Amino acid sequence: MKMFDIIARKRDGKALTYEELEFFVNGIVSNKIPDYQTTALMMAIYLNGMSRRETSELCMLMANSGDTLEFSDEYITVDKHSTGGVGDKTSLIVAPVAAACGLTVAKMSGRGLGHTGGTVDKLESIPGIIMDMSMEQFEDNYKKTGLCLSGQSGNMVPADKIMYALRDVTATISSIPLIATSIMSKKLAAGAKNIVLDVKTGSGAFMENPEEAFDLAEKMVDIGTANGRRVSALVTMMDNPLGRTIGNSLEVLEAAEILKGEHVGSDLYNVSVALAAELIHMTSGKTIGEATETARKKIKDGSAYKKLCDMIVAQGGDASVIENGDGLKKPLYTHEIISPEDGFVVSIDAKTIGIISMNLGAGRSKKTDPIDYSAGIRILRKPGEELKKGEPMAVFYSDIKDMSELEKKYLEACEISDTQLPERKLILGRVTKGKIEEY
Ligand code: URA
Repeated sequence: MKMFDIIARKRDGKALTYEELEFFVNGIVSNKIPDYQTTALMMAIYLNGMSRRETSELCMLMANSGDTLEFSDEYITVDKHSTGGVGDKTSLIVAPVAAACGLTVAKMSGRGLGHTGGTVDKLESIPGIIMDMSMEQFEDNYKKTGLCLSGQSGNMVPADKIMYALRDVTATISSIPLIATSIMSKKLAAGAKNIVLDVKTGSGAFMENPEEAFDLAEKMVDIGTANGRRVSALVTMMDNPLGRTIGNSLEVLEAAEILKGEHVGSDLYNVSVALAAELIHMTSGKTIGEATETARKKIKDGSAYKKLCDMIVAQGGDASVIENGDGLKKPLYTHEIISPEDGFVVSIDAKTIGIISMNLGAGRSKKTDPIDYSAGIRILRKPGEELKKGEPMAVFYSDIKDMSELEKKYLEACEISDTQLPERKLILGRVTKGKIEEY
């Protein structure tokens, strides 16, 4: 078999066989296929797409290209993935709620890059916590508390690492089959039998328009179910930041507040409960309505909050800091953004806010950049809320003294109107095996 012929077949719109896909994945991982041929094939996939069978087979081959996790059947394992957003700390809420229901969450998460954050960075703002742990410690922890959130192990899905890095520099990121296989290969390798996906759409998301987001959701559900997992996806809005905080320690504290029963009915609460309900529904036989009630109850009775504290302690962290923030690094400076006019907030562009937060020190523009765990933004006036001229509408936190340029960008990112617009939908729909429900 020759890589040249595989590229030519995909260029001509043919479906690749299992053997051809296997040749490709084995070839890139063993360094036998040069980057120019890998990128040529990915461009041909970008232009001509892939069938259901090809997508599912490529994904499984990628998932098995490195280490994989396996769990004994005594654990009901669940996982959650978000396609990335601004202020998205739902993993810190969904995982403890699921664990409080007796489900096992042994989840490997990523770090943030660009305008989106990562669960590992958020948790690393907690003094003492260990996110890069050995496999033995990972196992000990999920067996003990039912909940372990860690960084990615060294050699999981190497095929995706190679493909993703090349896609990033060859304009082939935004291909639905390549995104679907990239995300789902990591989920399949991570071993959980039950998976909920939060596919974001809007200005702060990968998939800016809802049709593409539903398409991606459908493909990912399809791949997961074809490979023996229970998978459902919610398509949720990411045109405004989720919740009121962006930045690592700020987001941990906001997630802790939700788990302590605060902010009931907020956007963050509603999306988190809906995602947790999917996992409860698929593992218990409860209806979505009953599962939603269960998720709410686990927040209200404090058991989910206790799970988060137990997890932090098991990972060597100081759980007392999430009580009220004492013990977390504080920023050198805070800066209030003052409303220039009376009115109502219509929207706050999520992507711009993510970039401002990154520039305040909370994120990285390249993988090796250091981050400031205390930096970020607190939004005081969210879309739909009233503004009074001269009153603070947001607060910046940073070790950088001069925040005036970023303040200008924040004001530009906020659309203000004289009239209050009707509330917009947060959850656009749900995708399960062979079924799309638009809300
Ligand atoms: N996230 C991933 O992990 N892979 C993609 O291709 C896009 C988003």
